[in-house]
Amino acid sequence: MRILVVGATGTIGSAVTDVLSARGHDVLVVGHGSGPLRVDLSDPASVEALYAEAGPVDAVVCAAGVARFGAVDELGAEDFAASVRNKLLGQVELVRQGLASVREGGSFTLTSGDLSTHPAPGTAAVVATGIAVEGFARAAALDLEGRWRVNVVSPGPVAESLEASGGEPRGGIRASDLAAYYVACVEGQGTGEVLDARRPMPHRD
Ligand SMILES: NC(=O)c1ccc[n+]([C@@H]2O[C@H](COP(=O)([O-])OP(=O)(O)OC[C@H]3O[C@@H](n4cnc5c(N)ncnc54)[C@H](OP(=O)(O)O)[C@@H]3O)[C@@H](O)[C@H]2O)c1
Repeated sequence: MRILVVGATGTIGSAVTDVLSARGHDVLVVGHGSGPLRVDLSDPASVEALYAEAGPVDAVVCAAGVARFGAVDELGAEDFAASVRNKLLGQVELVRQGLASVREGGSFTLTSGDLSTHPAPGTAAVVATGIAVEGFARAAALDLEGRWRVNVVSPGPVAESLEASGGEPRGGIRASDLAAYYVACVEGQGTGEVLDARRPMPHRD
């Protein structure tokens, strides 16, 4: 398949790119500040330009989306608005505008995060946008049933990200294990699903 991976230069996206490429897919790498193709998720015109440049694809994976951390009494209105514009509306635009570029029978795989179901202090904007991404995907999948599939991977803390921030990687999921959830969404038949990706996927025989 010809697959557009947004966030392909990041921790999760690069692992997803590696695994999809190893499985024989033709991956189009999309970054923000780097990468052969670039997009700013918070700008609908940038999403439009990305699809125009990429041409027809079979699937889109989004392993990007920025929401701002901070306590609700510290975040301003713009912090919430920026989070919604980027993580929620950016992924909505990837699907909405992508319908003209992704072949029928293809799929969209979005990213939320386990904070959506396991909130912690200082995560109000992250949780609000993550849960909205999941709700959007569940409802959009109903509208698009039989034509396009829409799913969400909800990663737990990634071991490499914990390590990079000086934390303890144990308890996190390795990006390469997380990538298996994205592969399952792209190659599988499910739609409207939110995959809880806090632990490596159980092996299937
Ligand atoms: N890592 C974790 O522990 C974890 C856990 C749960 C959920 N998540 C979610 O998973 C997603 C990816 O996380 P990650 O850790 O892989 O992030 P990351 O390593 O920071 O990578 C982010 C990726 O998104 C791209 N990007 C940044 N700003 C963008 C924008 N405005 N428009 C389009 N692309 C943009 C970056 O491109 P450049 O490299 O070119 O800047 C990069 O490819 C995020 O939504 C995050 O909230 C992550």
